[in-house]
Amino acid sequence: MPESVRIVEVGPRDGLQNEKVAIPVTTRLELIKRLAAAGLRSIEVGSFVSPKRIPQMAGTDQVVRQLPMDDEVRYPVLVPNQQGMAAAIDAGAREIAIFASASETFSWKNINCSIAESIERFRPVVEMANANHVAVRGYVSCVLGCPYEGPVPIDAVVSVSQRLAQLGCYEISLGDTIGIGTPLQARTAVRAVAQDIGIDALAVHFHDTRGQAMANILACLEEGVAVVDSAVAGLGGCPYARGATGNVSTEDLLFMLHGMGVTTGVDLGSVIDAGLFISAELGRSTGSKVAQAMIA
Ligand code: HMG
Ligand code: MG
Repeated sequence: MPESVRIVEVGPRDGLQNEKVAIPVTTRLELIKRLAAAGLRSIEVGSFVSPKRIPQMAGTDQVVRQLPMDDEVRYPVLVPNQQGMAAAIDAGAREIAIFASASETFSWKNINCSIAESIERFRPVVEMANANHVAVRGYVSCVLGCPYEGPVPIDAVVSVSQRLAQLGCYEISLGDTIGIGTPLQARTAVRAVAQDIGIDALAVHFHDTRGQAMANILACLEEGVAVVDSAVAGLGGCPYARGATGNVSTEDLLFMLHGMGVTTGVDLGSVIDAGLFISAELGRSTGSKVAQAMIA
């Protein structure tokens, strides 16, 4: 079990990209400001993808331009291709995330190309990042199952992770996009990928569609994973994975970690407040059980 965990807050991107209500730039910035003030040091703030495909992320350029100039906080943005990378650099992004899939069908549905083509598409993106001193994180989707193909072979997960690491990603986040995995499976996947790229370069990214996220995280922490993605108020899902619900909630993750004596540097009460703020803006109730218990 790691002594401390770095949380990558993905609510402003993975969360808001799949909410029915599109949130204006000023509100997205207010949420990001509150999350940073709570002590989160990695906050994914948007994506430079086609606004026709993901209208909720339109205006990410304006979000990035207005971010506080704070060297202590990383503000990664999702980038699918050179067009997105050029826009990200223009807006002043200092960290990006590229995203590939372990499932061919999901790759086509999500970014309209094969896995192999996606890796080739990311090569010049990473070159542009390197030339502009922009850090690159990598995602692998569908690591524990695909909405179209069902089970995903672990070799496919290892292979895509390897290729992203070889491209130059400093960290690979393994995504259970549709929240279908269970703890022993999650542990096996982490162990297999870690053999190759090392546990220190791995993060885990669980959606809580079937209520398995926290158990899966615990299993991965026991393997030595020390970076966990989560979303304030359990926002979100994935627009290309029907039925996918939100990411594991940051509040619930903090409650578990702090309860086990694992430090995060993040103030739970402030994250709860940020989650209630954005839930009110969305006109929905919070997806965090801990927040629900606090306001009951
Ligand atoms: P395409 O249609 O194959 O691309 O889309 P294209 O190059 O033929 O371009 C088509 C149109 O898109 C053109 O505009 C381009 O200008 C525009 P038009 O001429 O029709 O007006 N376009 C862009 N616009 C803005 N920014 C860009 C860009 N690129 C092209 N970067 C593309 C390919 C990848 C762009 C598209 O499929 C797309 O945007 N997909 C969205 C993918 C996405 O955001 N998915 C959700 C995030 S992934 C996820 O959530 C999983 C994760 O959380 C991990 C997990 O949970 O497992 C990361
Ligand atoms: Mg996701």
